[in-house]
Amino acid sequence: MTRNDGLVIPEGGFQPAPVIPQPNIFPMEWRVEHPKFLEIYERAKLQQWNPSDLPWDDLSPSDFTAEQRIGMMYWFAVLANFDASGPPVFAQATVHAYEHHQEDPVRKCFFSITRDEVNHEEACGRAIQKLIPGGPLDFEPTTDLERAAHNNISWLYHNGGRYWNGYAASLGKYPLAVLFTSFMMGEVASSTLFRGMADQTTHPVFRELFTHIGRDESRHLSICLQLLDKDWPGLDDDLKPLVTRQLRAGFVFLSMILWEPPNQFWELPDYYLANHRVLMGHARDAGLGVLSFEEQADNWRLALGRVAKIVERWGIDFPAIPELDVAGVDVGDIDLEDIIPVF
Ligand SMILES: [Fe+2]
Ligand SMILES: [Fe+2]
Repeated sequence: MTRNDGLVIPEGGFQPAPVIPQPNIFPMEWRVEHPKFLEIYERAKLQQWNPSDLPWDDLSPSDFTAEQRIGMMYWFAVLANFDASGPPVFAQATVHAYEHHQEDPVRKCFFSITRDEVNHEEACGRAIQKLIPGGPLDFEPTTDLERAAHNNISWLYHNGGRYWNGYAASLGKYPLAVLFTSFMMGEVASSTLFRGMADQTTHPVFRELFTHIGRDESRHLSICLQLLDKDWPGLDDDLKPLVTRQLRAGFVFLSMILWEPPNQFWELPDYYLANHRVLMGHARDAGLGVLSFEEQADNWRLALGRVAKIVERWGIDFPAIPELDVAGVDVGDIDLEDIIPVF
């Protein structure tokens, strides 16, 4: 029946629309259950920074030896294995959060992590281009050191590619809380790494860069912790051993940038580590802020102690890390399926 104002009221009543099969991003909604996420998202907006505003012109390649330039480029290429995979990793997590109707501020927080990671990835690219144009892989190596760097980076990215395939498959397989325990490990690691390097670097451009990234990573850590506090209490005890294993996987994966890679998961030629050490030595020598082997080990141990304390709250065992003399549960060898953490 058409009313005077033009509105049509069907005689038999309105027809209900078909139920949208889930997961799906529709229907749209803006539910807020935990306002804490809104606060963090507002903070993320206020703390935005622009990598192009950094005084890159003050980073003059001629201030460094050829060895130092390739060493620093190598360090950023290693960092990029983690930080430059952040944008697609969190973009996928954002889509996942929309499809599974996470409350609005959680989706916004995931988006803000994606936004930040694009900045980190941009910074890696800028530093690399400045030091070795065409790097990390699209340059013609002319010395043995350059050939070693080029080869190591291509092996590293072979492993990054394996990680990406595993990640893409794992999304949707586990509840967000399980996934975010891995992410949390990555954020603890990265906030520790950048804080240490911001203190140690002798170059003002790097100090500014590492300070910005470190602040972003600490905020990502707050997001992870909020999410875990919200979701862990309701989760099944069966998932706990899986998380213990993932924490060990986090150690195996992230040690490549935090310390040195252990002999699990990584597919690398036998000369990789020797050349990695030489290149890292040149980066350290250049004043980039790379900590010594022992300082890195101490920092990593400290960060793992923080993670152990955090997961204790939810009754999750911490895995043994014999490489750093950290006691815990033996979870056996780590393989590809276990690797989820990102920066
Ligand atoms: Fe990052
Ligand atoms: Fe992060």
